[in-house]
Amino acid sequence: MKITVVGAGNVGATVANVCAHKELANEIVLLDIKEGIAEGKALDIWQTAPINLYDSRVKGVTNDYAATAGSDVVVITSGLPRKPGMSRDDLIATNAGIVKSVTENIIKHSPNTIIIVVSNPLDVMTYCAYLTAKIDASRVFGMAGILDTARYRAFLAEALNCSPKDIQAVLMGGHGDTMVPLPRYTTVGGIPVTELIDAKSLDAIVERTKKGGGELVNLMGTSAWYAPGAAAAQMVEAIVRDQKRIFPVCAWLQGEYGIKDVYLGVPVKLGKKGIEQIIELKLTADEQKLVDESAKAVKEVMDVLDNMPVAK
Ligand code: NAI
Ligand code: 2OP
Repeated sequence: MKITVVGAGNVGATVANVCAHKELANEIVLLDIKEGIAEGKALDIWQTAPINLYDSRVKGVTNDYAATAGSDVVVITSGLPRKPGMSRDDLIATNAGIVKSVTENIIKHSPNTIIIVVSNPLDVMTYCAYLTAKIDASRVFGMAGILDTARYRAFLAEALNCSPKDIQAVLMGGHGDTMVPLPRYTTVGGIPVTELIDAKSLDAIVERTKKGGGELVNLMGTSAWYAPGAAAAQMVEAIVRDQKRIFPVCAWLQGEYGIKDVYLGVPVKLGKKGIEQIIELKLTADEQKLVDESAKAVKEVMDVLDNMPVAK
């Protein structure tokens, strides 16, 4: 098994570190465009192997795609992170250029790979990778839902003073302010969350989740990496271990939920073939309306990309 992580910045290095720690592959390649950065971080990660007791070989390269050849899974984290006051959508032009050229190189050397996109604006960068890769959409998808539900679950665990392990949740829609947490599908040790928390406190948690990425940007001056890195690595794990796990993932919709030709967060089954099933929940009219609004917001940014020279 071979994993490549493109972008050795905060998120990419964390993904490589978690994948190595979990021994998800014999070989993990970290690639960056900045001379020496991937080599240095990979060496540092590899030097944790004797401490953390794993065998995955972590190797860093500067823009050398030959070294990524034959990867089973590639995680694309290259691109600029959001700065305070900057929306995810402000990033579109720069990051689309980066994601496009990275995807071309990846597919050239690993035509059978599965691609997980992390770069922002997430839904649209996933679309950009899909347009460029020209492979089945079951092999090109984006990471956001696991991170967004993790934030939601962490906030709930704090409010209920219970273990985050017992909180199960699903969240749909785009990775942004229009994301749709679904309290009706949130349980705590099997108990519907609505039986354990009042509506006002739950609403406040839902609102905090929607702005969860921005909260961290405001605190740190750049976007988060520990939870995003762990979330992407969890997707890699589901694929390389063929776990058939059910996660919210940014997937290409072809009529599911009445939405067509849009990349949007929905629950899917992840296994060795990538997205093995898109799960269609029965939504209430109010929930469907929120999902439709989110799809509309994502589609507007996809249209911006479609009209940029980079998409041609
Ligand atoms: P960072 O700035 O720490 O790292 C980005 C890395 O990409 C840099 O090392 C840079 O040299 C590299 N890079 C730029 N162009 C490249 C190219 N053409 N080829 C290879 N490497 C290239 O940024 P960070 O914090 O790691 O974030 C990475 C991306 O992930 C950002 O777009 C950020 O907004 C996004 N993100 C997405 C999340 C999600 O939930 N989907 C969560 C957190 C971050
Ligand atoms: C996050 O949600 C900014 O997308 C990034 O942390």
